[in-house]
Amino acid sequence: MIITHYSLDTVDSTNFWAKRRALSFAPDEFAIISSLEQSSGRGRFDRTWLSPKGKNLYLSYAFFIEKMPSSSFFYSQLAALSLFDLLTDYSLAPQIKWPNDLLVNNKKISGILTDITMVEEKFLIVIGIGLNINMEEKLLLSLGRPATSMLYETGKSFLLDEIKQQLTHIFINKFLQSKVAKEQEALSSLWREKVLWMIHTQVNVQRYGTAIQGTVEEIHPDGTLILNSETEGNVRVTSGEIS
Ligand code: BTN
Repeated sequence: MIITHYSLDTVDSTNFWAKRRALSFAPDEFAIISSLEQSSGRGRFDRTWLSPKGKNLYLSYAFFIEKMPSSSFFYSQLAALSLFDLLTDYSLAPQIKWPNDLLVNNKKISGILTDITMVEEKFLIVIGIGLNINMEEKLLLSLGRPATSMLYETGKSFLLDEIKQQLTHIFINKFLQSKVAKEQEALSSLWREKVLWMIHTQVNVQRYGTAIQGTVEEIHPDGTLILNSETEGNVRVTSGEIS
């Protein structure tokens, strides 16, 4: 595996950049693309991901896989577990909220957007990570939904490059570990353990414009959430957003 770093000053989105450059990546390349700012940062459901210059980590990992995975969800799980370990190292007591938001004190500190694209018979996985690091309260409040940053939680500011290196180190270790099928299962089970706190909680799931209310019954290691809704009984949810 060849590890390459692309450190940009500005870009529309590190995920878009990776997909545009897909043909120039070597088959065994593990590309780390980061930018100081993004003019068109994207979140899940095509939302805007606010990406002010030099404040936070805007990062994508891109690499090819040979076989079409049954889902790209596993790669988001790897990223969520890596962010969990990173934030734990900083004593921030993170939680993973299904499907893959990282929370600290019930506020979102990080989000993950994984894309899979077919490129000349191979599959390019792009894992985009946004981690709020030095974002101040004023900007956090302007997001209009509960959000936090490492600065807000600790009162300290951090070096973006140092955090990028630490996160990448953690992620690559898990990524290499996951090449062994058994280990992949173990990592998915570990992810499940980290989202189990949500079982029996009352939630509102937004799936492409429709809202379903209910109680979380079960979460499977493959990422499926079973929701017990008063109106529809047990519903399997594979993607969506919980509030
Ligand atoms: C979410 O909605 O929670 C996912 C947010 C993902 C944001 C990151 S920032 C780096 C990468 N580039 C993007 O445009 N999005 C992801």
